[in-house]
Amino acid sequence: MTVPLLHDPAYPRLKGFLIEATGLAYYADKDGDLASRVQGRISASGAAGAAAYLGLLQEEGVGGKELEALTAELTIGETYFFRHQELFDALRDLVLPDLIGRNQQRRRLRIWSAGCATGSEPYSLAMLLKREFATQLAGWEVDILGTDINRRFLANAREGRFEDWALRALSEELKQSCFSRAEKAWILAAQYREEVSFQYHNLVRDPFPSLVDGLLLAGGGARGAQHRDLQGLSPGECSGRGSVPETPARHRARRASVWHSARAAGPERAAGLVCTAPAGAQVRCGGSP
Ligand SMILES: C[S@@+](CC[C@H](N)C(=O)[O-])C[C@H]1O[C@@H](n2cnc3c(N)ncnc32)[C@H](O)[C@@H]1O
Repeated sequence: MTVPLLHDPAYPRLKGFLIEATGLAYYADKDGDLASRVQGRISASGAAGAAAYLGLLQEEGVGGKELEALTAELTIGETYFFRHQELFDALRDLVLPDLIGRNQQRRRLRIWSAGCATGSEPYSLAMLLKREFATQLAGWEVDILGTDINRRFLANAREGRFEDWALRALSEELKQSCFSRAEKAWILAAQYREEVSFQYHNLVRDPFPSLVDGLLLAGGGARGAQHRDLQGLSPGECSGRGSVPETPARHRARRASVWHSARAAGPERAAGLVCTAPAGAQVRCGGSP
């Protein structure tokens, strides 16, 4: 059954505006899916059709309540702990040792999980750091920032409560040692939460978060990265300047499309940012840092 909105002459303009405002290019060739989600918001808002609804969105502007409500309908928060194991392997074997080596002087590591959904990804990073790098990072300042465009996901992330589904890739040992049980939920232990914070951020429009002092971009969904700090990098450039010899870990990193650059910072402000861009998002990070 086709959605009536698809026959509305203003639909293409509305669609263009939405993709531009959210970066959700995923919907570029999924009109049925997009239109049925938008239709629900048009009815709820009382707008007469696509043109009126577009007018409402434009009048409220970015950050307006209706665009936020619509974004909550459009975003897909699929995530679980250690999703894309090959990516975490590459972080553990190659990227993090490299960053830690380069940040020895400053003794600080700042990691950004961009498009973090309900938090499994930044918390997985915290677990990886605490369990595999505790000795190297003793006395260091470590911050992991999770950002997302969906405020409801962020509120859930801050709670640190998860259902079985989010833990499906974890071994029994990891579950038992990192979580406690509260009825049907799993509560992440405080030690894996204390260095993780969450903040609203739209990758398409907002400047890089101020805590960022370098750049590392990881994640197969990073296609279309257009931020100036991402320009000219090739997937697998894991040493920032391509000086790491070929190793099995480097192979894995390439397969995971790990992108890494310390270009913005220089050696003494070496990279401390991990950005796992959401699939289909056109990462642009507008404005100046
Ligand atoms: C499929 S989830 C991936 C979550 C996590 N990175 C992972 O791989 O497990 C994609 C997330 O990106 C977020 N997202 C989509 N467009 C975004 C944008 N323009 N700015 C920030 N977050 C965005 C969505 O809200 C969603 O939570």
